[in-house]
Amino acid sequence: MIVLGIETSCDETAAAVYDGKRLLANVINTQEIHKRYGGVVPELASREHLSFIVPLVEEAFNKAGVGWDQIDGIAVTRGPGLVGSLLIGISFAKAAAFARNIPIIGVNHIEGHLWAPVFEYPELKSPFIGLIISGGHTQLWLVHDFGKYTLLGQTFDDAVGEAFDKAAKMLGMGYPGGPVIDKLSRSGNPEYHHFPRPALKNNNYNFSYSGLKTAVLYFLNSLHPDEIESHKADIAASFQKAAVDTLVEKTFRAAHELKVPRIVLGGGVASNSALKIQMTARTESKGIELYIPSSQFCTDNAAMIAYVGYRRLMRSESDGLTFSAEPSFHGLSLS
Ligand code: KG4
Ligand code: ZN
Repeated sequence: MIVLGIETSCDETAAAVYDGKRLLANVINTQEIHKRYGGVVPELASREHLSFIVPLVEEAFNKAGVGWDQIDGIAVTRGPGLVGSLLIGISFAKAAAFARNIPIIGVNHIEGHLWAPVFEYPELKSPFIGLIISGGHTQLWLVHDFGKYTLLGQTFDDAVGEAFDKAAKMLGMGYPGGPVIDKLSRSGNPEYHHFPRPALKNNNYNFSYSGLKTAVLYFLNSLHPDEIESHKADIAASFQKAAVDTLVEKTFRAAHELKVPRIVLGGGVASNSALKIQMTARTESKGIELYIPSSQFCTDNAAMIAYVGYRRLMRSESDGLTFSAEPSFHGLSLS
């Protein structure tokens, strides 16, 4: 069975072709237009998806060496995400499924992130703890098996990627902020200033990042501009350490308390180098397996959507043509 995967939930237009064994194509267009606004502008994102979706699917078909005749099913992100953006992918997918008379699956984007390591780590087994961290999400999941998930905790307020983006903005750096803070932090001292680690001591698996953002603002306001300039890397590294410490602590607490010996990271923030170093050190000392996809599979992509769609199509599932976009999709089956 050959599946076309489509992802348009935020600012990446992506298409992939997957045959259950090999990823035949995985193409993406990251929208550059938002950089000048310092964040994703939803209306612009929808318009960009509209201009890119057809050429991207054609590019994916060319790379995979297939045409519509070979496509047995379509998987498309149903949510969570920006409603206008989701609707472009869903409308395209439904039109194609109708015209070709093939089944369609509306995939939960988070479920895609949870399984994204399979392309590089085909040996990945469940159960595992999944930490999904991006500009829109900070969630900790217990994955019992394919299709069986428990949400252990999530952020009360800002997502961790959002905190990176806002901290970078306050430091006068570009968007997206995560990669610039990551790079700058390599030459900084993470012990320069102790920022708060909200929710770290709470006896649950939830997170909170808006207090950290405010703490950065207050700290910067307390400094002379020259001091900020000469300690930019130290401030970035101290912020990053605070952001990462809570992620590492809560993820390992979940693995320990629930006796699950595997951890999966997903979402754009999973490519953070300090996080990778801390996670790797802890997993090695505790004998836990760690799965971090490379950045093409950490960030939004259509391969992960095609994978989930493939598994569900193999179970003879189909969502039909009447499902709608779910901007705050909670549709993972909770056990
Ligand atoms: O998963 P993603 O590409 O898109 C969504 O938000 O859905 O994640 C983007 C987020 C942004 O907030 C960006 O600043 C953050 O991931 N990010 C990073 C790094 N690379 C991307 N945060 C920290 N360190 C990084 N290396
Ligand atoms: Zn995502």
